[in-house]
Amino acid sequence: ASTLGAAAAQSGRYFGTAVAAGRLGDSTYSTIAGREFNMITAENEMKPDTTEPSRGNFNFSSGDQIYNWATQRGLKVRGHTLAWHSQQPSWWGGISGSTLRQAMIDHINGVMGHYKGKLAAWDVVNEAFNEDGSRRQSNLQGTGNDWIEVAFRTARNADPSVKLCYNDYNIENWSYGKTQGVYRMIQDFKSRGVPIDCVGLQTHFTGGSSLPGNFQTTLSSFAALGVDVALTEVDVTNSSTSQYAGLTQACINVPRCIGITVWGVRDSDSWRSNESPLLFDGGGNKKAAYNSVLNVL
Ligand code: XIL
Repeated sequence: ASTLGAAAAQSGRYFGTAVAAGRLGDSTYSTIAGREFNMITAENEMKPDTTEPSRGNFNFSSGDQIYNWATQRGLKVRGHTLAWHSQQPSWWGGISGSTLRQAMIDHINGVMGHYKGKLAAWDVVNEAFNEDGSRRQSNLQGTGNDWIEVAFRTARNADPSVKLCYNDYNIENWSYGKTQGVYRMIQDFKSRGVPIDCVGLQTHFTGGSSLPGNFQTTLSSFAALGVDVALTEVDVTNSSTSQYAGLTQACINVPRCIGITVWGVRDSDSWRSNESPLLFDGGGNKKAAYNSVLNVL
């Protein structure tokens, strides 16, 4: 196959990218995004600060712009994200306790209702753990330790057709406290029937040429709990070809690793642009890492 999406599809997987609505008018950008990828994540446009700027007042204009651009080209869309400590609407900062809990529930119902039946997956909860595996202290955590399962139960009711994911970073190394903390939560949810379908490993890699310890073991261990896994926001310092090939191979080696998404198109589009971490350079040319990924898919 001659594109990342088509190559991934040979094994029933997808290869995606994050897209920013404000860049879609750039023809170099949109040509590459539409040609190479078959799964799209809105980089910022479906986050709570954008979708519910004031209470009960939803705004889907930029999220829909990305959704429509993608689906007109036959590309699928992952929803990102519904409940997170960051990029919250400012009015969440003025409430707490049961008021904030209800606001979260209403937010999930409002956004998932708008996209009901249309998306491949939702990152229902994003980044809720500390590095040591304990729960991150946040205003949402302050509403009670059960906020994550309430978010997932609400989400299942809001759209029973979409896959529900927990998404986080630094959960790639199996011998890491945060990985183990998330693993125990998924294990607990599965044992108690809390609805969850997938774990997203953001896969923001830094430095070096080797993968975090036992990366493939992490993927297969999560999968063994009965969830799909996906690499959801991949970028790698200086696009190390060995790390890009290795993370792709690890996904290919795990049957329930369903796809890989890179967090942007060209280096110049990246939130880490000073680290040149993506598969296309600023001019839109394929980098060595592009070929190292394509060769493994
Ligand atoms: C980042 C975006 O790429 C930036 O444009 C924005 O300023 C901040 O958020 N983890 C996530 C993503 O789940 O939503 C973040 O995206 C990167 C880290």
